[in-house]
Amino acid sequence: MSSKPASQYFRLKVLGLDRSLEDDFSTSCFAMGAAGVAEDLKFVQADLRYDPDVVETPVLDLNVFFETSPSEDLLLQLQSEYPKIRIELLSEENRDWLEEWKKGFKAFLFAKPFWVVPSWLKPPAEAPSNPDHILYVEPGMAFGTGTHETTRLAAGLIIEELGRKVAGSLLDVGTGTGVLALVARRLGVQHVVGIDNDPEARRTARENLELNVARAKDPANTVGIEIPDKNVEDIEEQFDIVVANIIDGVLTIIQHELNRTLKPGGRMILSGVLTDRESEFYANFTAATGLKLLEKRTDGEWSAALLEKAQG
Ligand SMILES: C[S@@+](CC[C@H](N)C(=O)[O-])C[C@H]1O[C@@H](n2cnc3c(N)ncnc32)[C@H](O)[C@@H]1O
Repeated sequence: MSSKPASQYFRLKVLGLDRSLEDDFSTSCFAMGAAGVAEDLKFVQADLRYDPDVVETPVLDLNVFFETSPSEDLLLQLQSEYPKIRIELLSEENRDWLEEWKKGFKAFLFAKPFWVVPSWLKPPAEAPSNPDHILYVEPGMAFGTGTHETTRLAAGLIIEELGRKVAGSLLDVGTGTGVLALVARRLGVQHVVGIDNDPEARRTARENLELNVARAKDPANTVGIEIPDKNVEDIEEQFDIVVANIIDGVLTIIQHELNRTLKPGGRMILSGVLTDRESEFYANFTAATGLKLLEKRTDGEWSAALLEKAQG
C-alpha cells in the first residue's frame, strides 16, 4: 500500500501568552497568514477516567501553524507586540500517521491459538490453517488490536475459562474493536454482546465483525455478535460471563452494573487494573459486589482477574 508523499508545514511554538490576550494574538497570527492556532492544553486526570479535565492556566502555550514559512520580520513584529512571549519556529513533516503505523503492524500470535492479522494483509505461513483462529482487525480509531497487555490478559482468561466450561452467553463491556467478543464467539459462545460508550469504537467493532464474517470459512462462527448502542446501565439481561477490559478507575465506577449483568454462578473477567493498585482494587471490588476472586495474573504493569458470583 503506498503512503501519501510527506509534505512540510511550519509550527510556531509560543510560550507564556497571557490568556486575556489570546483572541488578539490569534487575530494577529491569522493576519500573518497562519492556517491555524491551537492551545497546547494541559490536563489533569484525577480519577483515572478516560476523559481528563482541561486545566485553565492564566498563562498559556500555543501552536500556530503555517503552510509556508512566516518571514523573520513578521516574527519580530509579533515578538514586539507581545514582549512576554517566547517563540520558536519549527519546520515539520506532514505524515499520514495511520499509514505509517500500518507499515509497522504485522500479523502476530495473539493468545494461543488465535492470531491477529491486520485487515490489509493475508495470514502468514506460520499462522494456523484453521480460519477460525485468525482474527482480522482494522483498527480505525478504537482500542483493541490485540497488542496491548490488558487485551492479551483478558483473552487468555476467556480462552481458559471456555476451555473448562461451555458458556451460552457473554457480555464484553468496553469492546473496542470487538476482538474479545470475537474470541468468545469463535470458541462457541452462541450469544455474544459487545458494548462501548464510544460511538467510534462501536462503529469500528461492527466493521471488524463484518470483515471477519466476510473472511471466515464458516461465517456461522462469527455472525451473531451484537453491538447495540447501549451503556452497561441499559443492559437488562444477565450473562454467563461478563468481560470488562477498562481502566480500574472506570471498573470501580461501573462495578454494581457489571455485577448486575452477571448470572448467579457466572464468571467475570476484569482487565486494565494497574498492579500498583491491584490489592486495593480487588479488595474494594469484591467487597462491593460480593464476587469471589478466583485467579489473578499480571503482565508488565497490568493485572487481570477471574471472579465468580455465588449461585442464587
Ligand atoms: C482498554 S479498551 C479495551 C478494548 C478491547 N476490549 C480490548 O480488550 O482490547 C477500553 C474500552 O472501554 C471503553 N469504555 C470506557 N469506559 C466505558 C464505559 N463506562 N462503558 C463502556 N465502555 C467503556 C473505551 O471506549 C474503550 O473502547
